[in-house]
Amino acid sequence: MPKTVPNTFPRAYVRPEITALAGYVPGEQPSDPRVAKLNTNENPYPPSPAVRRAISDACERLHLYPDPTAREVRERAARLYDVDPEGVIVGNGSDELLTLLMRAVIAPGDAVAYSTPTYSLYETLVPLQGGVRVRVPYGPDFAIPEELFSVDARMVIVCNPNAPSGTSVPRRALERLAEARRDVLLIVDEAYADFADENATSMGSRHPNVVVLRTLSKSYSLAGLRVGIGITTPALAAELNKVKDSYNVSRLAQAGAVAALDDQESMLAHVARVRATRARLSEGLVALGYELPPSQTNFVLARRPGRSLLPVKEALQSRGILVRYFPELPDALRITVGTDEEIDRLLAEMRTG
Ligand SMILES: Cc1ncc(COP(=O)(O)O)c(C=O)c1O
Repeated sequence: MPKTVPNTFPRAYVRPEITALAGYVPGEQPSDPRVAKLNTNENPYPPSPAVRRAISDACERLHLYPDPTAREVRERAARLYDVDPEGVIVGNGSDELLTLLMRAVIAPGDAVAYSTPTYSLYETLVPLQGGVRVRVPYGPDFAIPEELFSVDARMVIVCNPNAPSGTSVPRRALERLAEARRDVLLIVDEAYADFADENATSMGSRHPNVVVLRTLSKSYSLAGLRVGIGITTPALAAELNKVKDSYNVSRLAQAGAVAALDDQESMLAHVARVRATRARLSEGLVALGYELPPSQTNFVLARRPGRSLLPVKEALQSRGILVRYFPELPDALRITVGTDEEIDRLLAEMRTG
C-alpha cells in the first residue's frame, strides 16, 4: 500500500490567491464514442488526412526538441492572414497565448475588462496573475458596450464572435475601440472567426495595441493537437516570446499545424457543412420555442427566458447527449453544431421532452 498524506497537506504551501480560486471547469470529455458531444465546441469532422501523414512523418524526429520559434507555422499563418511572420506567436492552444498575455502584461492590481457573458477562462486567468476583473455586461443586442470605451483598465478582451452567445460585432466596431483605446492592450479572441461572415485578424498587425488570437482547435478540427496563433506587432511578439516556455508547441503539433494550414480546402469544406447544420439546428430549436441570438460560430445559445434548462440538460445527458449548461445562465443551453445525424438525434429527444 502506498503511504498517504492528509488531503489538506498542500494548502500550506500554495499562494492564498490560488487556494481561494475555484479554477476553470472544462466541459466533460466522456470516453464512450456513442455519446453525442455537443458540449465543448469541437468540430464533428476529422482533420485533413494530410495532417495525420505529417504527424506520422514527424515521429521520425521525436528525439529532437521542436523549433522553439515554430517558424514554419508562423510563416504559413503570416501568408494566410497577410501579416508579418515576426508578429506571429504560436501557443499550446490559444488558451496558452491568453496565459502568456496575462503574464507579460498584468501586474497585481491591474484591471482586465471584458463584456459578460463571455469565455469563462478569462475569469480564472486574471486572478492567477493578481489582476482585477472588470465585468461589463452586454446589452440584449450583444453590441460592444459603450463602457468599454472609457473603462479604467490595462487590458480589454473582446471575444469575437463571442462565446457563449455566438454573436459577433462588426470589424469596424473593433477598429473604433482599438483607435479609441490606445492606452490599453486590446485582445480580440477570434477562436470562432472561421465560422463567421467576417474577421478582424489583420488588425493585430495594423494596431500597436492589438493582439488577435486564432486557434486550430475549432475550424481545423485539431482541438486535441493544441495549436493557437497570436497576431500582433513584431515588438509585442518579442516581449511575449520572453515569457513563454522555449518548447511550448510540440514537434507533432507544429507538423500537424503546417499541414492543416496548407489544406484550406478541407477546413473550408468542414466549415461550410457546420454552417449548413447550424441553420438546421437553429430552425429546429426555434420551432421548439427556444430563442436564439444569431450565431456566427459552431454553436448556438438556446434560451427559454425565465425557465431553468438544467432539467433539459440532465434529460439529454441521460440519453447520451452532452450540451453545456452554465449556472450563471440558467435559462440557456449552449449547443455545439455536431453532424447532421447528431443534431437530428438531439432535436428528436428535445421534442419528446
Ligand atoms: C472563446 C475561446 N477562446 C479560446 C478557446 C481555447 O482554444 P484553444 O483550444 O486554442 O486553447 C476557446 C475554447 O473553447 C474559446 O471558446
